[in-house]
Amino acid sequence: MVQIDMPVVGEYKPGLEGIPATQSNISFIDGQQGILEYRGINIHELCAQGSFLETCYLLIFGYLPTAHRLEEFNQDIIFRRRIKYRIRDMIKCFPDRGHPMDALQTCVAGLGMFYPLSNYHDADYIYDASTRLIGKVPTMVAAFNMMRQGNDPVMPRDDLTYAGNFLYMLNERAPDPFAAKVFDTCLILHAEHTVNASTFCALVTASTLNDPYVVLASAIGTLGGPLHGGANERVMQMLEEIGSVENVKPYLEERLERKERIMGFGHRVYKVKDPRAVILQGLAEQLFDRFGHDRYYDIALELERQATDKLAERGIYANVDFYSGLVYKKLGVPIDLFTTIFAIARVAGWLAHWKEQLADNRLFRPTQVYTGLRHVKYLPISERESLS
Ligand code: ACO
Repeated sequence: MVQIDMPVVGEYKPGLEGIPATQSNISFIDGQQGILEYRGINIHELCAQGSFLETCYLLIFGYLPTAHRLEEFNQDIIFRRRIKYRIRDMIKCFPDRGHPMDALQTCVAGLGMFYPLSNYHDADYIYDASTRLIGKVPTMVAAFNMMRQGNDPVMPRDDLTYAGNFLYMLNERAPDPFAAKVFDTCLILHAEHTVNASTFCALVTASTLNDPYVVLASAIGTLGGPLHGGANERVMQMLEEIGSVENVKPYLEERLERKERIMGFGHRVYKVKDPRAVILQGLAEQLFDRFGHDRYYDIALELERQATDKLAERGIYANVDFYSGLVYKKLGVPIDLFTTIFAIARVAGWLAHWKEQLADNRLFRPTQVYTGLRHVKYLPISERESLS
C-alpha cells in the first residue's frame, strides 16, 4: 500500500486571521505603522504624482508604464468602454430599487457569456480581459444609474479622462477638472489592498480556472457586505442619522452601549489610522474649500475624535470608508453607488491577483475542524418526533 503523508491540521483561526493564503508581490501593508505600498511604491507618492490608469498598469503588469505604453493602454481601454446593447437591455430589466452592487455583479458575470474563455497563459487574453473589465465596469455602473431613473445611458466620451468620463456618464454634465482629479485619486486609493475578503474570494474562484468575469463577479459579491466595502454607504447613512454635532456624543454612547459597531472604524490589519483615510480626509477638505462646506464633515470630525478616544486603546481607528463617502457625496455621487466606486477601482487589484494566481495555480481546498456527530442511524420518517 502506498503511504501518503497527510498534512497536519493546524489550529482553527476564525476569519483565518494571520493565516497566509497566498504569496504575493502586488501590495504591502504595515498595520502598526499605517503604511500601504503598491509594488513597493508608497500610496502617498502614487496619489501625489500618479494617475489611476498608471496604477492599474503598475498593479497588473508589475511596473510603471512609459508614456507611450500608458497611452496605448489608455486607448485600449477607451476602445473597450462601450457595452453591448444586450447588456443594456439586461440592465433595463433590473428593478429600479435593486442595489447597484447587485446590478454590477450581474452585469460582470454576464460579460463572460460574450467573451469566451481562452488560454489563460496567453498574455493577449489576459491583456484583453483586463482592459475590457477596466473599461466596461464604470460604463455599466453609470448605465444602471441612468436607466433606473428612466433615462437612456450616457455614451462614454473619449476626450475625457477615465475618472472624468465616469462622473460625466453619471449625469451627462462635464465634470470640473479639479473634481475629476480628486476622483482619480480616490480610485488610486481603492485599487488594491492585499488579501482581504473580496480578493481572497477572487483568488479562490481564479484557482478553479473559471473565467475572469466570474472571478470578478464573485469578488464584487463579497465586497458589497457591510463589514467590507459596503461600509462606506453605511457611514454616510450613520452621519445623516446623527444629524448634528451635538448628537454625536449620545449617538456614540448609545451605540457602543448596545455593542454595535461604528461604521468606518476598525480594521483587521491596521491598528492605527488607515493611511487611505488620512489622504481621503485631505481630499474632502480640498473639495469643501473649493465647492463649499458640508455639515456632515463637522459631524464626521467630531465622531472620529470621540470614537478614537473610546476605541483607540483597542487599536480601532478610522478606516478607508470613514471619509470616502463625504468625498463622493460632494462629487454628486448617489449614496447607494458608493460601493460600486470601490469596485470600479478594485478591478485593478483583483485582476492583478487573478494574473498572479494563474501564473502558479493550485486549487484552493482548505480543511475544517469537524464539530458534528458521526455514525448516526437513519431514522425513518414515521419514527421521527418534532423537535419544535
Ligand atoms: N466599532 C466598535 N467596535 C468595534 C469595531 C467598530 N467599528 N470594530 C471592531 N470592534 C470591536 C468588536 O466589537 C470586537 O469587540 P469584542 O472583542 O468586545 O467582541 C473587537 O473590536 C474585535 O472585532 P472583530 O470583528 O473580531 O475584529 P476584526 O479584525 O474582524 O474587525 C472589521 C474588522 C470587520 C472591519 C471591524 O472593525 C468592523 O466591523 N468595522 C466596521 C465596519 C467597517 O468599517 N468595515 C470596513 C473595513 S475596511 C474595508 O473592508 C474596506
